[in-house]
Amino acid sequence: MRKSKWYLVSVLATVLWPAHGIIAWDSPSSTRESQPAECLSLNESGTLALNESSIADLVIYQIYPRSFKDSTGDGVGDLRGIIEKLDYLQELGVNAIWFSPFFKSPQGDHGYDVSDYYDISPEYGTIADFHELIKEIHARDIKMILDLPLNHTSIEHPWFKESASSKDNPKRDWYIWRDGKKPGGSARPNNWKAIPGGPAWQYYENTDQWVYFHFLPFQPDLNFRNPEVKEMMFNVMRFWLDRGVDGFRLDILHAIYEDKQLRDDSFSWALLPSDKSTASLFKAHKYDLNLPETFDFAMELRGVVDEYQPERLLLGEAFGSVEELRRYYGPENDGLQLVFLFEFTSTAFKPDKYAEIIRRIEKALPPPYTPTYVLSNHDRVRFISRLNNNRDEAKIAATMQLTLRGVPVIYYGEEIGMPNSKFELNTSLDPIGRKYSWVPNLLCKWLGITLTRDGCRTPMQWNDKPNAGFSTSPDVKTWLKVSDTYQNLNVAKESQDPASVLNCYKRLLKLRRDYMVLQSGLLELIESGALKKKCLAYRRIHEKQNVFIYLNFSRDVLKLESPVEKPALLFSTDVNRASLNEGSTDAAFYLGPFEGVIFEEGR
Ligand code: NOJ
Repeated sequence: MRKSKWYLVSVLATVLWPAHGIIAWDSPSSTRESQPAECLSLNESGTLALNESSIADLVIYQIYPRSFKDSTGDGVGDLRGIIEKLDYLQELGVNAIWFSPFFKSPQGDHGYDVSDYYDISPEYGTIADFHELIKEIHARDIKMILDLPLNHTSIEHPWFKESASSKDNPKRDWYIWRDGKKPGGSARPNNWKAIPGGPAWQYYENTDQWVYFHFLPFQPDLNFRNPEVKEMMFNVMRFWLDRGVDGFRLDILHAIYEDKQLRDDSFSWALLPSDKSTASLFKAHKYDLNLPETFDFAMELRGVVDEYQPERLLLGEAFGSVEELRRYYGPENDGLQLVFLFEFTSTAFKPDKYAEIIRRIEKALPPPYTPTYVLSNHDRVRFISRLNNNRDEAKIAATMQLTLRGVPVIYYGEEIGMPNSKFELNTSLDPIGRKYSWVPNLLCKWLGITLTRDGCRTPMQWNDKPNAGFSTSPDVKTWLKVSDTYQNLNVAKESQDPASVLNCYKRLLKLRRDYMVLQSGLLELIESGALKKKCLAYRRIHEKQNVFIYLNFSRDVLKLESPVEKPALLFSTDVNRASLNEGSTDAAFYLGPFEGVIFEEGR
């Protein structure tokens, strides 16, 4: 691949694209103008109905299986290790677990390149271990959500091997093969770009044709216009649903369909990627993402899970404007029940910026649609590292995430404030990092970007023993190096400290369980007036229940006015605080630096 100057610009623009699974900026930034906070109106009829769906009480925890717990001592996490830690998750208070893929895979993209959808990768265990895992999960009243990469398989998948073998193979049409504009591999079929950068076509000499891939060359896209492919994938879903799984997280769902005629992509003025649109690199991505057929496909998928009772969940990974994302929910909320919303991960950590996002999302996804705010995942810089590892700010973020309307998704380790680690590009285990190993470290530093996803995938820090208690073998070289922070920052230590990030999560999750209004009440932003650059405030409402959330994003002590006469404190990030305004003769109350409070009207 030629590394022209232009290519460098394109690559950097693409890898900066937080919306597409690649690590975002190290530090918060935003180009958006702030807008004044204001109260949201209730739904059109003015009623305060609860979200009708049974999913509103969910709190999802994401496990990256390689990194959660190693029970065999080989340095790689596995299913039996996860079983050992289910009590921890139950005590934490989550009620659904999303597992990044553990299907059989050559692990080129650590499981997002599946070679057999009906089996488990040997490093993670066996089908018997899976059965044990789901039994233990359900015994704790937790739901199990599998990660399903539908869009593409590994090149090692037998379907692809057959498809690639000859032009007249019966599975040839299962993938997207095309002639180049010229023969002999000298000109690609069109100008499409893959998301991690570079052209989206791989040449195969044996048939003098190109195969399309949206992500990496070893992940060719399946052709969902072929009814056999659709049926095959629906059967994969049924296979796991029959075994009791409660839902799926759908990998890059917005990329499922491509333009039938494979028309050249059109020009866009957008250079840098954003979480609000798919346009970037001067390409509109008009013909490869968010096609009308893909929105319809969301409803077909819902049809498959609706064959099962009780309700099974579909959580989509898709990128685009909120209006585009809204279409995945279906016109009657009959598509996906949830779609990730990533804007918090790439916007400056500022209350007015966040208020603007919340306002826009509440407008686009009013009840019964359910937002799904995320702070981090296995593709993004860990949230606390975007906050320069400020643990007080991390508690504010957690308080916000767990009290906004919608289903929160917590990334493993987020609950203890685990930071990102630094890894060299040329030894990166993440294929994206390796792809860009030629980019000088200094340039990354200067631009404030991280090009490998290794840093957010390090082993879970359970205790201060060697290997952080992640592996049964204290001496084994773990697949990624354990963060140097583990001696001071681990589950065992945080459990003992009432003021820890972990205990903050536990208290919030308990409150969310106890207060149905926090699960499914409506949300109304509260005008913070002159304090809008320091404080985010909103209330959650259900019938007569009113709960108020005030979050101080600044180092200053803030004087605020209570919206109710006798506020009763339910929670503060400050464990020493006993009441909201005890002793005060007026309605004023104070928020300490980076303090968040939740209160209701006292009786
Ligand atoms: C999005 C996933 O989150 C990411 O980890 C993966 O590399 C790509 N999709 C390709 O499957």
